[in-house]
Amino acid sequence: MILQTEGLPDQHSLKTYVEKVNGYTAARKVLGGMSREQVIEEVKQAGLRGRGGAGFLTGLKWSFVPKDITGPKYLICNNDESEPGTFKDRYLCITNPHQVIEGMIIAAYAIGANKGYIYTRWEYQEEIRYLENAIKEAYDAGLLGKNLFGSGFDFDLDHYTGAGAYICGEETGLISSLEGKKGQPKVKPPFPAVSGYLSRPTIVNNTETLANVPWIINNGAKAFRQFGTEKSPGTKLFSISGALNKPGVYEVPLGYPFASLLNIEAGGMQPGRTLKALIPGGASAPVLTPAECEGLTMDFEAMAQRNTMLGSGAVMVIDDRQSMAELLKVTIEFFAHESCGQCTPCREGTGWLNNIMDGIMDRSAKPDNIARLGSVARNMGGKTICALSDACAMPVMSYVQKFSGELQAYLAAGSGGHSK
Ligand SMILES: Cc1cc2nc3c(=O)[nH]c(=O)nc-3n(C[C@H](O)[C@H](O)[C@H](O)COP(=O)(O)O)c2cc1C
Ligand code: SF4
Repeated sequence: MILQTEGLPDQHSLKTYVEKVNGYTAARKVLGGMSREQVIEEVKQAGLRGRGGAGFLTGLKWSFVPKDITGPKYLICNNDESEPGTFKDRYLCITNPHQVIEGMIIAAYAIGANKGYIYTRWEYQEEIRYLENAIKEAYDAGLLGKNLFGSGFDFDLDHYTGAGAYICGEETGLISSLEGKKGQPKVKPPFPAVSGYLSRPTIVNNTETLANVPWIINNGAKAFRQFGTEKSPGTKLFSISGALNKPGVYEVPLGYPFASLLNIEAGGMQPGRTLKALIPGGASAPVLTPAECEGLTMDFEAMAQRNTMLGSGAVMVIDDRQSMAELLKVTIEFFAHESCGQCTPCREGTGWLNNIMDGIMDRSAKPDNIARLGSVARNMGGKTICALSDACAMPVMSYVQKFSGELQAYLAAGSGGHSK
C-alpha cells in the first residue's frame, strides 16, 4: 500500500509511479467528481489512524476544519521524524515520494487548502533531494499548481527544512518554526484545525498517514479494512533496529505478530544474541520485557494493553549486551536536551532526571535515587503544554519498574556486570 514502488527501477520517479502503480489516478478520481465530504467520509470509513504517534483518526481530524470560513487554509506534511529510532518516513520519501505528494493533493482538496508544506529536518539531505526532485517533477507534469486535472482546484506545494529540533515535530512547535519563530509548542485549544499556520485553519499530518490516502481512494475503505485489525486498520511501516540480521523498514499489516516482524522480516537476532528488552514505538514508549513480548501484536490496542505505545513505529530491539542503565541515561539526556523549557515540570524534571542518572553513571548516587527517578517522573506527566514531558516520564517509569535491579547493580558495580 505504502511502499508500492519499492524495488522497481527508478522507484522514486514520477514515471515509475505513474506507469507501474497507476500513480495520480486517485487524485484524478477525487478532482474529477468527488465532493470534499465524500473524500472525508471515505477516509473516515477506512478508519485510517495517524501514523505520527498519537493514532488519531485522520478523517475525523479533517472534518474539524471549518467549512464555511473564507480565506486561506493550509495542509502540512509532518516529515520531521526526530523520534530516536524512527527512520520510516525517510525511507518512504526516498522510495516513493510521489505517493506522499498525491496524498497531499487529496487531503488539501478535502479540507479546502490551496497551499501545502512538507516540513523536513535539514540534516536529512538525501531525503530532501528526493523530495524536492519529486515536487519539481510534479510541477513540470502539471500535477501541482493551478487548475489540477482541469478541476479548477489549485494546489501549491513548498518544501521547508527545519534546523533540527525534536520539538519541531510537535505540530504547534512545527507551525511556529514554519512561521519563522522559535519552534515552541502552544497551548491547545485552539487546535491547528481551527487556528494553525498564520492563525488560519491548518491540518498537520504525518508523511506515512498522507501516503495511505491514494490507496484508500483507489481501492475503497472496505478494501483498506481487509488489512490490520478492527481498531487499527491498514498496514504500517516499522523501522526496526538493533542486533538483527536484517534491520530496516518493513511494511506489514497492523496486528502483525512481533515474533514474525523480528524473526521473518528482520531475519532474527544476530548469532549468539538474545532479546533483553523491547522498545516498541520509539524512545518515548515504555520498555517491554521478553515475557511481555510473548504473543505481542503490532497494533495500537495490543500496545495499550501492555501500557506502552505503537508510537511512530520505531521498534528497537535491545540485546543481552546492552546496559539498561546506560540506555536510560542516553534516553533521558536526549529529552533533557530537547525540552524547549517553557513548562516547569518538563524543564526541571528532565534536568533532575539527568542529574540523578549522572550520579548513577559515576556511582555517586545514593541507592534510593533509583526510586527517586520514578517519583520525579510521576510528577512530570499530564501537566505541560505538549507531550514531551510525558514522553520522557513514561520510559523512565517503565525502566524503574522493570529493570531497577539492573540499575541498582550498575550503581553498585559501575557496569552492571555487562560485557561491552
Ligand atoms: C515532542 C513531539 C514530537 C513529535 N514529533 C513528530 C514527528 O517527528 N513526526 C510526526 O508526524 N509527528 C510528530 N509528533 C506528533 C505531532 O504533534 C502530530 O500529532 C502528528 O504530526 C499528527 O499527524 P497524524 O495525525 O497524521 O499522526 C510529535 C509530537 C510530540 C509531542
Ligand atoms: S512539555 Fe517541555 S517541550 Fe513541551 S512545551 Fe513544555 S517545556 Fe516545551
